[in-house]
Amino acid sequence: MAPVLILLGPPGAGKGTQARMLEEDFGLVQLSTGDLLRAAAEAGTGAGRKARAVMEAGQLVSDDIVLAILKDRMAAPDLAKGIILDGFPRTAGQAGALDGLLADAGQRVTAAISLEVDDEAMVARVSGRYTCAGCGEGYHESFKQPATAGVCDKCGGTAMKRRADDNAETVRDRLTAYHAQTAPLITYYDGKGVLARLDAMGPIADIRQALGAIVAGVSV
Ligand code: AP5
Repeated sequence: MAPVLILLGPPGAGKGTQARMLEEDFGLVQLSTGDLLRAAAEAGTGAGRKARAVMEAGQLVSDDIVLAILKDRMAAPDLAKGIILDGFPRTAGQAGALDGLLADAGQRVTAAISLEVDDEAMVARVSGRYTCAGCGEGYHESFKQPATAGVCDKCGGTAMKRRADDNAETVRDRLTAYHAQTAPLITYYDGKGVLARLDAMGPIADIRQALGAIVAGVSV
């Protein structure tokens, strides 16, 4: 059975950064509900327009919108080697719906990995973040700069962009939503025997290595 991995963690924990590295290291596919919702908002779909206002306020988008978008993506044929869910599930309702979706396909969650970090450090991480407008590669003003300033290491693009919800005030609202609605899922997955905890305060390369060891252990 192809692995189904969940990366849990507050805004700025490094879920997206590490998910993209797991894609490179293990051939898994990252499914980020944040990216899917931003694409829907950009495309101006009905769901996307509703989602945009909620995201910019630092709140969670409704389960029905998120689940509809994720189900569409999970129906695509490119997920055979396994998936990394980044930013999903985020509520008890989403976790239950995921269990149902996987059970219908004869699958289950392989591991839920909780990236554990301090709230204050998250504000600095998120406020300094930017991404390549061409390929989406993520960077940080202090912690992860491209080899040549202003040029994406991955695609050579020079247009960089920042997210509308990456400001200190909205990050605090996103952290509040995380603690109220998403952190309880740590106990949920612990109860299912699939939880791994990882201290994610260290350098990106160290976390990549530690996470890789966890993933290698559960993917065999
Ligand atoms: P989403 O896009 O999922 O954002 P998030 O969970 O707030 O997480 P981030 O993307 O901000 O952080 P990350 O953990 O991926 O960190 P990153 O690797 O980029 O969601 C956005 C919004 O969409 C939500 O608020 C909600 O409205 C909506 N939404 C999405 N999914 C939803 C769902 N399932 N249900 C309902 N609503 C949903 O790292 C951050 C920065 O730090 C980067 O610059 C990086 O270079 C740097 N960095 C990473 N690791 C380290 C490290 N170890 N040391 C130093 N710097 C580091």
